[in-house]
Amino acid sequence: MSSEMTTQPQYYHDEIVKRLVQFSVAWAVLAMAAGVFVAAELLWPTLDMGQPWLSFGRLRPLHTNGIIFGFGVSALMATAFYSVQRTSHVPLFAPKLAWFLCYAWQLLVLSGGLSLLAGMNTTKEYAELEWPFDIAIALLWVSFGIVFFGTISRRKIRPIYISNWFYGALIIVIAMLHIVNNLELPVTWTKSYSLYAGAQDAIVQWWYGHNAVGFLLTGGFLGMLYYFLPKHAGRPIWSYKLSVVAFWAFTYSYIWAGPHHLHYNAIPEWVQSLGMVMSLVLLAPSWATLINGVMTVSSAWEKLKTDPALKFIVLSLAFYGLATFEGPMMAIRSVNVVSHFTDWTIGHVHSGALGWNAMITYGTFYYLMPRLVGTELYSKRLANVHFWLALAGTMLYIIAMWAAGVSQGLLWLSLDETGELAFGFRDIMSSMAPYYGLRLLAGLIFLGGTLLMAYNFYMTTRSRKTVKVEPPVVDPAFGVV
Ligand code: HEM
Ligand code: HEM
Repeated sequence: MSSEMTTQPQYYHDEIVKRLVQFSVAWAVLAMAAGVFVAAELLWPTLDMGQPWLSFGRLRPLHTNGIIFGFGVSALMATAFYSVQRTSHVPLFAPKLAWFLCYAWQLLVLSGGLSLLAGMNTTKEYAELEWPFDIAIALLWVSFGIVFFGTISRRKIRPIYISNWFYGALIIVIAMLHIVNNLELPVTWTKSYSLYAGAQDAIVQWWYGHNAVGFLLTGGFLGMLYYFLPKHAGRPIWSYKLSVVAFWAFTYSYIWAGPHHLHYNAIPEWVQSLGMVMSLVLLAPSWATLINGVMTVSSAWEKLKTDPALKFIVLSLAFYGLATFEGPMMAIRSVNVVSHFTDWTIGHVHSGALGWNAMITYGTFYYLMPRLVGTELYSKRLANVHFWLALAGTMLYIIAMWAAGVSQGLLWLSLDETGELAFGFRDIMSSMAPYYGLRLLAGLIFLGGTLLMAYNFYMTTRSRKTVKVEPPVVDPAFGVV
């Protein structure tokens, strides 16, 4: 496709990408600090000092919303904008709208976070923000779609590269989930009631919750993987056909699996079984991506020894494999009876969140930042230290939570000789202190690594070394990837 290579524009709108990366790093630090604080509160509940805004109930959604909407979405917008320009060979469509989106989104996350601290909360997990924020999210999400699909529609390369399919699914499906789940009746400026009730409310909520995990924390980040892994490894994706099959299988099966969050609840049993079966089906597309990713780096192992960015990306792939194997197992009803309502779920969440989402983002940012600034990374050594801190923090976090979760699950199910519950809730929870202590330590280690990265990027931005431009990697089928 050499003729197409000549169609590359002289410039891309990378300043927007850089700013979004900077915001994403800032949210990572803040939201993870909130995570560390709530982890400490589970160990020492009086840490809130009687202040409602410092209570676990307010800081926990601050952690999850800050991480997902602040860190995660800013990173997804940055990487989608960076890669869609290069895979389409055109600069961003409507750059002014993209700049507006970049700042307005941060304002939304900030004001939304403050509203959670003030106690405004719809009580729907991952959709806690009240109705004025819901409307703002919908409008900004449409702007994201206009910039992204507008760029694709002006592309100079006919095929649409696979990463764009994942980013496109992220934009379309999240819009659909957000609007349907947030249909509500406002009663004041700060309070609304959901249009759904009872079992219907639960099913809609977990259709949203599960697919937000699916299309944002999984699908969106797969878009990142499919662009930045081959790009950084310097190889085209091992099997392009397999990536297309994985995309369609993933998109088709994910949407049905939500009821696995409602096992043994007051919803029809066939709905629960559907959720379980579709979760097991998901093993196929998840592992297709895993195999494709491993085969793509398999001829670049040498680079892996020395390059911290690639180390992060490849390790994230391993955790992706782990979380997407564990998830279907937890969706089996007889396993879920042990795991549900325990820290096993929290272990699963963070093997995905820290091991997959955070690590792939860190690897991608280490790749991107020097290129966006036009210089070399300030310290490769610090990046390597960060890698080991991230790995140690993740392992410690998930091992502590698995141990805590499995013991909680088994103790809660134990009966004494009279058929009564053998252990009380309080006794079990007070035996959790060592695990919660380890999780707090894990969080501090992980946060420490993230701070090192922020410092490294700050110094990189200030540095004045000249850049070494790498030659583009050419995929015979899809131009420069
Ligand atoms: C094939 C893939 C996956 C399947 C089938 C799956 C399945 C499950 C199951 C069965 C639960 C527990 C539900 C419950 O007992 O309430 C769960 C919880 C969760 N999973 Fe996964 N999982 C998968 C991958 C992932 C990945 C990659 C992430 C990324 C971070 C993730 C994030 C979460 C979150 C955040 C929750 C907690 C939801 C909540 O209760 O608030 N999952 N998942
Ligand atoms: C320093 C790192 C982190 C620490 C110390 C931390 C700590 C915590 C704690 C203590 C909870 C509440 C657990 C409970 O209610 O029992 C939690 C929940 C959660 N965290 Fe984190 N977290 C960290 C990083 C992350 C990251 C990077 C993500 C996402 C990319 C994430 C996503 C979540 C989610 C989705 C939940 C809710 C899980 C559920 O409801 O099942 N966390 N975190």
